[in-house]
Amino acid sequence: MEKHIWLERWENNETGFHESSVNPLLLKHFHALELPLASRIFVPLCGKSLDVGWFLAKGYCVVGVEFSESAVKELFKELEEEPYVVKEGHFTHYSAENIDIYVGDFFDLTLELVGNIDAIYDRASIVALPAEARPKYAKHMLALTRSAPQLLVSIEYDQNLSNRTPFNVDSDELHTHYAEHYTLSQLDTLEIEGGFKGKIPASDTVWLLDDLNL
Ligand SMILES: C[S@@+](CC[C@H](N)C(=O)[O-])C[C@H]1O[C@@H](n2cnc3c(N)ncnc32)[C@H](O)[C@@H]1O
Repeated sequence: MEKHIWLERWENNETGFHESSVNPLLLKHFHALELPLASRIFVPLCGKSLDVGWFLAKGYCVVGVEFSESAVKELFKELEEEPYVVKEGHFTHYSAENIDIYVGDFFDLTLELVGNIDAIYDRASIVALPAEARPKYAKHMLALTRSAPQLLVSIEYDQNLSNRTPFNVDSDELHTHYAEHYTLSQLDTLEIEGGFKGKIPASDTVWLLDDLNL
């Protein structure tokens, strides 16, 4: 989906993807990453997710990227943090203690900008992108983070019943993108109550993508 469409969605409050509480699969399975305190967690396509505040409250550092500056402003407001804002290349960089959010395009991020990443939390991120963009997304993610372990929350449903974001990203597809670099473990599946868009049977699945040698 193009940038202007996401920005329009934020402007028009069409943000059904935004969850009003911390993601239950994150709460249940975060421990699987076994991250020491103060680890740096990359949250791609972060929106104004409450999960960011949860990581900070637990004593972790967050690096995020998001197209929408208004979403990022709201994120900092909800965190009750006054951001330091500076232009950096293609990005506007919002920061406060333990948090760095880059306003701009994920695909423009560089290793230099994000710095060392200990883990990735992908919720509604790879699934937000159309099929043709996902191989590029996965490749860029691996390069940016030097294949840091991931907790990835995906959605599965019959793609014939909807052609809109979020897209169905199933086990086969995740293996296509990532099996060369990680061991993939399916940790849990949660049926979406009432179905996706209130009618299509669907489930959220959480994956741990970890060291190939484990
Ligand atoms: C489906 S939402 C998920 C937001 C967040 N992960 C959550 O769980 O609430 C996808 C977000 O990614 C942003 N986005 C989409 N493509 C992007 C890109 N290439 N670079 C940066 N942000 C992007 C959109 O503006 C939107 O806020």
